[in-house]
Amino acid sequence: MANPVTVASGTFGFGREYAEYVDLRRLGAVTCKGVRMDPAPGNPQPRIAEVRAGLLNAIGLQGPGARALLEEGLPYLHALGVPAICNIWGRSAEEYAEVARTLSGEGGADAIELNVSCPNVHGGGAAFGTDPAVLASVVKAARAATRLPLFVKLAPNVPDVTVFARVAEGEGADALSISNTIPAMLIDVERRRPFLANVQGGLSGPALHPIAVRLVWQAAAAVKIPILGMGGIVTPEDAVEFLCAGATAVAVGTANFADPRTALAVVDGIRAYMERHGFASVREIAIPH
Ligand SMILES: Cc1cc2nc3c(=O)[nH]c(=O)nc-3n(C[C@H](O)[C@H](O)[C@H](O)COP(=O)(O)O)c2cc1C
Repeated sequence: MANPVTVASGTFGFGREYAEYVDLRRLGAVTCKGVRMDPAPGNPQPRIAEVRAGLLNAIGLQGPGARALLEEGLPYLHALGVPAICNIWGRSAEEYAEVARTLSGEGGADAIELNVSCPNVHGGGAAFGTDPAVLASVVKAARAATRLPLFVKLAPNVPDVTVFARVAEGEGADALSISNTIPAMLIDVERRRPFLANVQGGLSGPALHPIAVRLVWQAAAAVKIPILGMGGIVTPEDAVEFLCAGATAVAVGTANFADPRTALAVVDGIRAYMERHGFASVREIAIPH
């Protein structure tokens, strides 16, 4: 990455959708919307709701599938010379491995990011990323399937994130992405029913920011691999907080929906902060534990 700023998966399509508003070449990388092997239809509407300090979404991982990403999405990013981090998911460890393998060939991803916050069909629907043994099996399978840099995107709704960070590192992850959304719910009180058709969704945006900063702080003390910090970044200062907590790169997500140029403002703001404080590398920004 030419700079430490990317966009969070699922908030920026496959990059091209934003090209009219953002010079994509100024981003450190584009992180693509999550794909599994086959096209995924996603959940019924309504599947997005604005809440007081963020956004609830239950998109249900709608996506065109790994081959469409390979053939239609990635060539555009490669032609621009922007690294593509491909976010992937599956219904089993084998599917994660298959998607990772598919995207690792000629013209494929520059890095793979595992979304482990999706339901494990064989595990009664609990997310892969909330059981250390299941997480280990997914990371191990993906690791065996690709030599690309492998990011594991951790779930925030776990009692001790360091356990999951160490499992991912131990199974060969090259980096951690922290954090995914937090399970949450909105109720329409007049109709007396859940607002989202899926009933529950994932909370992102400013409400998530201090929670994610703490998770990055804890994980940074537990592992040696680098951390991509995300959750509620709106201003450059929000991003610098993640760097202070021990991340060495950041991703801007929900804020893209309000202002697609947020990530570019974060690139400039981090640079200005580093100049003001005399930092030569983002690594120097981390606060010692
Ligand atoms: C509409 C929407 C779709 C998302 N889709 C994905 C996805 O496909 N894969 C994934 O790992 N995370 C997904 N996320 C989570 C984001 O990548 C990010 O981790 C989270 O939203 C926190 O960052 P933010 O508060 O800046 O949005 C999605 C988030 C939103 C709001």
